[in-house]
Amino acid sequence: MTAPYEVPRISVNSTPLPTADTDFIIVPIAQDQAAAALSTLDQAIAADIRSAIERGEFRGKPYETYVVQTPAQGWRASRVACVGGGLRREMDVERFRRMATSAAQLARHQRRGRIAWADVEPGALAANARVETIAEGIVLANFDNGFHKSRNDQQFFITDATILTSESVAQAAVHGQQMGESINAARVLINEPGNVLTPRVMADKAAALGSVDGVSADILDEKQIEKLGMGLFLGVARGSVEPPRLLVLKYEPKGAPAGKTLGLIGKGITFDTGGISIKPSDGMERMKDDMAGGASVVAAMRAIALQKLPIRTVVVVPMTENMPGGRATKPGDIHKGASGLTVEINNTDAEGRLILGDALWYARKLGATHLVDVATLTGAVVVALGKITTGLYGTPQPWVDHLRAAADRAGEKVWQLPLFDEYREQLKSEIADLLNSPGRPAGSITAAMFLKEFAGDGPWAHLDIAGTAWAEDAKSWQPKGATGAMIRTMVEVARGGLG
Ligand code: BES
Ligand code: MN
Ligand code: ZN
Repeated sequence: MTAPYEVPRISVNSTPLPTADTDFIIVPIAQDQAAAALSTLDQAIAADIRSAIERGEFRGKPYETYVVQTPAQGWRASRVACVGGGLRREMDVERFRRMATSAAQLARHQRRGRIAWADVEPGALAANARVETIAEGIVLANFDNGFHKSRNDQQFFITDATILTSESVAQAAVHGQQMGESINAARVLINEPGNVLTPRVMADKAAALGSVDGVSADILDEKQIEKLGMGLFLGVARGSVEPPRLLVLKYEPKGAPAGKTLGLIGKGITFDTGGISIKPSDGMERMKDDMAGGASVVAAMRAIALQKLPIRTVVVVPMTENMPGGRATKPGDIHKGASGLTVEINNTDAEGRLILGDALWYARKLGATHLVDVATLTGAVVVALGKITTGLYGTPQPWVDHLRAAADRAGEKVWQLPLFDEYREQLKSEIADLLNSPGRPAGSITAAMFLKEFAGDGPWAHLDIAGTAWAEDAKSWQPKGATGAMIRTMVEVARGGLG
């Protein structure tokens, strides 16, 4: 078995391009400002690129690449690769990250292990934000899904990446490297099949991933979960022979503002068959990613602690399979959660909201005051927003705005959907406090309304990543499979403080 990813060494220096000790130099070029970047290059190389632009072979469109051989004399690198950025004013965090991943993937395909990024095109970003996202993008490219293949001899990783710039951005490069590594680690977990990543295995691996300096990890077993009264969580777990686990991570930095704790809660269904309300078999294999929210909050915690952000943070991830075993919950059953609310379970496939209900309650019990949950919760959000945009829900509005601003800074797309009181009607049960599956209309909203019943009166936001957690096709900036959506956004939430 080969490795799923490697973290390249990343350094920052202001060496001129020809003398940079590297194999492959990446030059970003804005479609409308090509002359600016070209003027920084050696004449022969600039002329070669200029003629490619004149021939229409390279236009500077986003993620387009064009590789030039360096002059035989005077250059240490053998290749210069241009990567297009589109219009300069559009060159934001997401654009630069994707440019870096695209160009670094090209370097890997050409088996160049030591690469450099020439910081000659500022785009629409300040130096720190630009270098952070470039470093992140390079690390994200160093990822290989094929590590379960017994013959994966094509594998090749970048070992060194240098950012050639005169700006003082060493810290930004380190942050980008840490973020890329955290995202890669989450992607590996998310891609793992259900038989490999059972709840017990996920708990161990996620605890290890989150356990950096300043973080303590605790794994609760089925007996401890029962003691806490988490009947909703256990109602999902009872259909499986694999026992559930509840992972808790706590990060308590010195100097954190008193009385405020960020709570990150993630859905950890290691495989979702639907339970007795079983899913159709077509496409069911995708349901191994139903723990993406759980992996993402752990990865976010890792990055938050590595950056030493002064925000007290707790992570809660309920982990279980949703299986139709002999003791499984049946449609119509009632279970009572730790908060005391009873739920009539008319559809066992609406299981995420059940385990998250108990987990939200527990995060509050552990002192979390500002909640964010992340979950592959509903097919309905995919209908509403497709695979491009994460659904955002929450209350009060300033906290939701805080999330949206963080997502903007992180270069991730979110869109708010409403939680009008009228939707609450759909959650009514004749015989219990709540109904878990309120029908098709507004399905992602009513799922969020259900969670809201467990979130208390403080700030709470919910991110539905059912559409964004998984990429169906490989792109130059994204392998097929787990995306790691919303990890950066959660880290940006912590960076922005709790208000
Ligand atoms: N894990 C699924 C949601 C999902 C669907 C994620 C498609 C990714 C892609 C969730 O547990 C689920 O089954 N939701 C049901 C809820 C319904 C029964 C109310 C759904 O969306 O169909
Ligand atoms: Mn389900
Ligand atoms: Zn699910």
